[in-house]
Amino acid sequence: MAKESGISKILAGTFVFLTISVIAGIVTMIIFYKTEIALMDPTPRPMFTSSTTSLPPVIRLPKNLVPQSYQVVNVTSPNQTMLFTGNSTVTFHCVQGTSVVYLHSRNLDVSGPVVMNKDTNERIGVSSMKNEEDTRNFLEIQLNAALEAGGNYSLFLAFNGEITENLNGVFVSTYAQGSPAFLAATNLEPADARTVFPCFDEPEMKAVFHVTIIHRRDTVALGNADMRGEIHSNILDDVWKVTYFYPTPKMSTYLFAFTVSEFTDSNVLCALCYRCVLPTQTYARPDAIAAGHAKYAANITGKILKFYENYFGINYEQKTLDQIALPDLGVGAMENWGLITYQEGGLLYEDGVSSLLHKEVIATLIAHELAHQWFGNLVTMKWWNDIWLNEGFATYLSFFAVAHMEPYSKMKDSYFMSNLHAAFEVDALASSHPLSPPQEDVQMTFEIEDMFDAITYCKVQSNETRNEYIYDVGVCMYLSDFSYKNTDQNDLWEYIQKAEDEDGGHTTVAKVMNTWTKQMGYPVITINTTNGEVYQKQFLFNDSSESSLWWYIPIRVMSNAAEPSLVWLESIKKDEFIAKSGEWILANVNCAGYYRVNYNRENWERLSTQLETDPHRIPLMNRGQLVDDAFNLARAKLIEVTLALNSTRFLQNERALLPWESTVRNLEYFVLMFDRSEVYGPMQACGMKASFCLHSQILAIDVACSNALPECSAMATKMFANWMDNNRTNRIHPNLRSVIYCQAVAAGGAKEWEFAWDKFQSSIDTSEKDQLREALSCTKKIWLLNRYLKYTLNPEKIRLMDVGSTILSIADNVAGQALAWNFIRAHWEYVSNGGAASLIEGVTRRFSTQFELEELERFAADNNLSPTKYLQQAVEQTQVNIVWVSENKDSVLKWFENETAS
Ligand SMILES: *[C@@H]1O[C@H](CO)[C@@H](O)[C@H](O)[C@H]1NC(C)=O
Ligand SMILES: *[C@@H]1O[C@H](CO)[C@@H](O)[C@H](O)[C@H]1NC(C)=O
Ligand SMILES: *[C@@H]1O[C@H](CO)[C@@H](O)[C@H](O)[C@H]1NC(C)=O
Ligand SMILES: *[C@@H]1O[C@H](CO)[C@@H](O)[C@H](O)[C@H]1NC(C)=O
Ligand SMILES: *[C@@H]1O[C@H](CO)[C@@H](O)[C@H](O)[C@H]1NC(C)=O
Ligand SMILES: *[C@@H]1O[C@H](CO)[C@@H](O)[C@H](O)[C@H]1NC(C)=O
Ligand SMILES: *[C@@H]1O[C@H](CO)[C@@H](O)[C@H](O)[C@H]1NC(C)=O
Ligand SMILES: *[C@@H]1O[C@H](CO)[C@@H](O)[C@H](O)[C@H]1NC(C)=O
Ligand SMILES: [Zn+2]
Repeated sequence: MAKESGISKILAGTFVFLTISVIAGIVTMIIFYKTEIALMDPTPRPMFTSSTTSLPPVIRLPKNLVPQSYQVVNVTSPNQTMLFTGNSTVTFHCVQGTSVVYLHSRNLDVSGPVVMNKDTNERIGVSSMKNEEDTRNFLEIQLNAALEAGGNYSLFLAFNGEITENLNGVFVSTYAQGSPAFLAATNLEPADARTVFPCFDEPEMKAVFHVTIIHRRDTVALGNADMRGEIHSNILDDVWKVTYFYPTPKMSTYLFAFTVSEFTDSNVLCALCYRCVLPTQTYARPDAIAAGHAKYAANITGKILKFYENYFGINYEQKTLDQIALPDLGVGAMENWGLITYQEGGLLYEDGVSSLLHKEVIATLIAHELAHQWFGNLVTMKWWNDIWLNEGFATYLSFFAVAHMEPYSKMKDSYFMSNLHAAFEVDALASSHPLSPPQEDVQMTFEIEDMFDAITYCKVQSNETRNEYIYDVGVCMYLSDFSYKNTDQNDLWEYIQKAEDEDGGHTTVAKVMNTWTKQMGYPVITINTTNGEVYQKQFLFNDSSESSLWWYIPIRVMSNAAEPSLVWLESIKKDEFIAKSGEWILANVNCAGYYRVNYNRENWERLSTQLETDPHRIPLMNRGQLVDDAFNLARAKLIEVTLALNSTRFLQNERALLPWESTVRNLEYFVLMFDRSEVYGPMQACGMKASFCLHSQILAIDVACSNALPECSAMATKMFANWMDNNRTNRIHPNLRSVIYCQAVAAGGAKEWEFAWDKFQSSIDTSEKDQLREALSCTKKIWLLNRYLKYTLNPEKIRLMDVGSTILSIADNVAGQALAWNFIRAHWEYVSNGGAASLIEGVTRRFSTQFELEELERFAADNNLSPTKYLQQAVEQTQVNIVWVSENKDSVLKWFENETAS
């Protein structure tokens, strides 16, 4: 799936909520689910203990039964409720005798089990069946006779389930299409397939699905595979349509998907489509399609797919690839095989309304999801601890695909760097986690969900250890040999090793890579150009944390005299890094390594001088990274905070965006720590000055206005007022809208806010809505912020999927921070549906006092929250902030005062 943060801000949609009666009988489906599993080691079945036991639960399915096929028949919602009912038959192969069958089922009412011996056609009696009401979600079926190793069996089950409104499992979504309209869709990663039908819901239990969906005549059913045919049928006194699908490829349950809707598709001219025999279709609300909003996505999908086919040397074998823009979806996008679901903002683009940035977000997101059709769908991780094999690769490959697609793409480097910094940030905490933790550490569903974080998505993109050629060859062989199978990271290392060996290389891939994937965190290397000393240690914000971790580090290094070259840290010669007089040394050229670099003070100063006199001698990426390293080394107390601040002086001559973005991102930490204190005045004065040096209009307006430059808010207010007077025509340039809207609402009062709210409610354009939704949080009026917070509790005003990002933008606003924190505590049950992890992370970002720390700890205890990573991380981050603020406040204040004075 797509990482929430980063796109969530740009994604939205809000409409009228449904009257339940209208959706009666919306979905009827037949699923024939056929599983064949490669040889698996039979392991003993789990021991069931009473539910009061304090032993850790055995959470995984036993592997003694190898499911071979499922038949899930005629799931239907027969009356005026949101219930569905259906039947399923699973056939499976037994590799170790047992008289108990376990499979997954959650929130399903399961009955009527019938077990057959497929080889003899004899029926085997069932003595009991129970669904464990615990975290394992096991459906346990006791048989009268044992199943024998080598035999093939089938299990019939009838079940009822509920169509939810909370964006998981089979859920209903409403949208305005003249009158309210409805659709049903699924979202099943990581562990919700078991809420749709009883199944062996683990990624390694791959299966072929034969699906039939029975639905209303005026709706379209989409599934993982191409439609095989449709007939009309009389059910419940009405004529319905039965849609039969071709069998899916062998795939994991979490990739199962269907939608039933009145959506239409964006027909792309055949010449533009990917292959005439394989149309990729893009579906959305009919009015969005009619307005052409899906055209851009439809246009680029085929090209990206083609790029991957060439790159991997493996064709996309499915007959269809549908993409659908859903008005509601709990994640940015989900890569279900053959039916990729997106939030509307991830797929819909309108020329003249959406910003250029939005266009690149869409291209990158599509490229991410399409990469999954190979990395994740074709070759899947054995278990969720290795989910980085899906997400890391999809993120990494999306850069290449987009660069290939849009050679003029400006954002590639910016994305790369902001992803890198996102991973660096979490991974500098002692409560971080390894990219690939041991399986035992990722068992419970909440532990699996914790894995979908910045580290999993972004750590792998740093690629210095890879020789491009070897890497590509290894990866392509890996994909080809493990097609339709499951892997762990060792399989990947083995294949890269093969390519390395064939190329005559000497690196032991696993040995090197395991230091990066099996250990949490990352190193900072310190280079002393006076005595030539180079050493590494773990980089941690909290310098009191002990660490003896050690990495194999490839260092690409250059100096003012020498071009970049690669050297391994442990093989650096004694005086290799001693600088001649006046010479500087720069390590981690182009930021391809996942580590930070610290230098002796003289080298920092020489680099600064170089930057101030002729910045272009230093590669662009490093101009951004030097600032980021300096600020973070200061956060970790490895250098003085004033040295970091000094490192930004070169910016007054910097015309490229990237170093500015990096600086603004880092200064944001200062803003968060100090915008409630007396340091903020001099900081704003300084920010105002800086805004005049900015060459990016958007960033300049943003920086200038947020530092209270009067001319800036006057301009924003005027542009916004023009729009208000006209009411209809909006002449603000699309690329500037988000910043102008925000600044005008911030400077304005109820009138501006209400105009923006009206426009938000009435707009049918997704990116316009998203920009307005964010702008509404910019007001400084407490009563408006409180009203807005209340609106997030009403799905008719703010869609459930937008609740989290709306509260986060309110918390970003210094005027809304405390309100948002109080609000999420008061309404945790509802708002945490919008992403508990990002809410806690976002709302506590300013926390830097003992009182706030205690409040956070009390909140976790009072709510009895699972011991999740994100809570530990928020607590640790707060502790780090408390120390940092107390130690640095005075010198920061003095630096900014001096800077303003000069
Ligand atoms: C499923 O529904 C179809 C269409 O109404 C019907 O023909 C078929 O008999 C049903 N199958 C089962 C097993 O109920
Ligand atoms: C499910 O199976 C039961 C028992 O075989 C049958 O009576 C019922 O019609 C089936 N339901 C559907 C929706 O096919
Ligand atoms: C709707 O159908 C379900 C399942 O068949 C049944 O349990 C429920 O009582 C029915 N509800 C009404 C209102 O008829
Ligand atoms: C589709 O792509 C072609 C070139 O590849 C371009 O000329 C055309 O403008 C694009 N259409 C849209 C709607 O983006
Ligand atoms: C490493 O990543 C950078 C930045 O995305 C890219 O330019 C470079 O080609 C990559 N190198 C390898 C060996 O993959
Ligand atoms: C670098 O080496 C010199 C000479 O040995 C020493 O005085 C200085 O403290 C070192 N600096 C750092 C940052 O280690
Ligand atoms: C930062 O710059 C100021 C003014 O140039 C200088 O006095 C100070 O020593 C510098 N601080 C550090 C830590 O380099
Ligand atoms: C804008 O125009 C619409 C429709 O003409 C009207 O309903 C709305 O009240 C107007 N809004 C403002 C702020 O004038
Ligand atoms: Zn993904």
